[in-house]
Amino acid sequence: MEFSHALNRKKFGSEENLGNVLNDVESMSLLTDWVKNEKLVFHMKQVGHLMKAYAIFKGYDAETQHMWYLSGLLHDADWDQWPDHHCRKIIEELEARKIDPRIIKAIASHGPRYFGVDPTTEMDKMLYAFDELSGFVHAYSIMRPQGYEEMEVKGVKKRLKDKAFAAQVSREDIADASERAGISVDELIEFVVKNQLRK
Ligand SMILES: [Fe+2]
Ligand SMILES: [Fe+2]
Repeated sequence: MEFSHALNRKKFGSEENLGNVLNDVESMSLLTDWVKNEKLVFHMKQVGHLMKAYAIFKGYDAETQHMWYLSGLLHDADWDQWPDHHCRKIIEELEARKIDPRIIKAIASHGPRYFGVDPTTEMDKMLYAFDELSGFVHAYSIMRPQGYEEMEVKGVKKRLKDKAFAAQVSREDIADASERAGISVDELIEFVVKNQLRK
């Protein structure tokens, strides 16, 4: 196991900041300031969109939906400029801005193998589950002449078995995230295909 990105902490943010969020303008300006790589911005928008879609699917209120959205939108915000400090840098920034600890904790646990922080809440687990899968489904859409049109779960699964396809996407993490979330990989794929932001 590689722990170079280990955060070596268990507590993120402060309870005093519960309910504090960035609004849409603030979160987009943080992204524009920090992230020059458009593909990475799009990845975060896709994950943010899926997180919000899932919170809506679960019937959560608008504040909860926005929290889920933000955790997805910002989870890789430091990757472009500070890859060696991913995701320590964005955590420290959100702590300095006194943002809700639940958002910071979700970001801190989006890669348990790397950051050494277990996803525990439903929001944590879904961020971990959607992160790799969203990127994978997007890669699959790019290689298909018809993009997302008529994409099927079985097509995605076939590509998952093909180790050479989108080799940087960890199949191990996808399986682990599905197990932790208690949702089958098939169901996760179905949700992603249906709700993914397409452009
Ligand atoms: Fe990441
Ligand atoms: Fe990501």
